[in-house]
Amino acid sequence: PTTTETIVAVDGPAAAGKTTTSRVLMAIFGLRYLESGRIYRIIAAEALRRNLPPDDIAAIEALCEELLSETGPNTALASPRHTPDSLRSPAVTGLVPGVARIPGVRTHATALIRQWAADQAAPCIIEGRDIGTAVFPAAPVKFYLNATPEVRAERRVGQESGLSYPAVLQDILRRDYQDTTRASAPLIPARDAIEIDTTDLTIQQVIHRMATAYRARRGKD
Ligand code: DC
Repeated sequence: PTTTETIVAVDGPAAAGKTTTSRVLMAIFGLRYLESGRIYRIIAAEALRRNLPPDDIAAIEALCEELLSETGPNTALASPRHTPDSLRSPAVTGLVPGVARIPGVRTHATALIRQWAADQAAPCIIEGRDIGTAVFPAAPVKFYLNATPEVRAERRVGQESGLSYPAVLQDILRRDYQDTTRASAPLIPARDAIEIDTTDLTIQQVIHRMATAYRARRGKD
């Protein structure tokens, strides 16, 4: 099983390049990859499906318990009911920051992420918002990717067809606000994170910096 010493944490706001770069590092170094936002999205999608109001904290915490006890950690993550596309729908994306600020939800999601990592037979790369600060504070390699909201919105619009720039920018600003101001594990760089401002960098340049830092770190082991 994986120990904390072999975890790479990739945190940062929405659309900073975490997923793209994490997937490339996964392929280069043979890491196991987890997109932890998926867990929060599954909880939000289930809350929507059951018409639970986002401010009914007790009901949403009970839903988390049910999801985990019903299916066990690995199957909850694999949940076939929610496809990657449905988890990225505007309705789920709109609800997820509100769900992610509920402390009981974070406790469950954190336990699930740790369990997933413990089950892996190889080093892991995990992307999210609080991986280096709250989930694995002892991870030896931590990245914090950031870029201006305008550039992140432009990238999103360029990646997916049919999106309007003002709406995407507004959504990014709202999610930044919600993710950074919540009381429980807010989005903030870990003290020992390698911060990369990707605003003026190409994706290749970001990957190069991350790969160099990872190799340097691994060389010390
Ligand atoms: O990375 P993403 O856009 O799929 O994340 C969806 C939401 O989940 C985002 O609003 C913040 C939340 N999240 C979190 O609070 N902690 C994590 N480790 C990952 C995601």
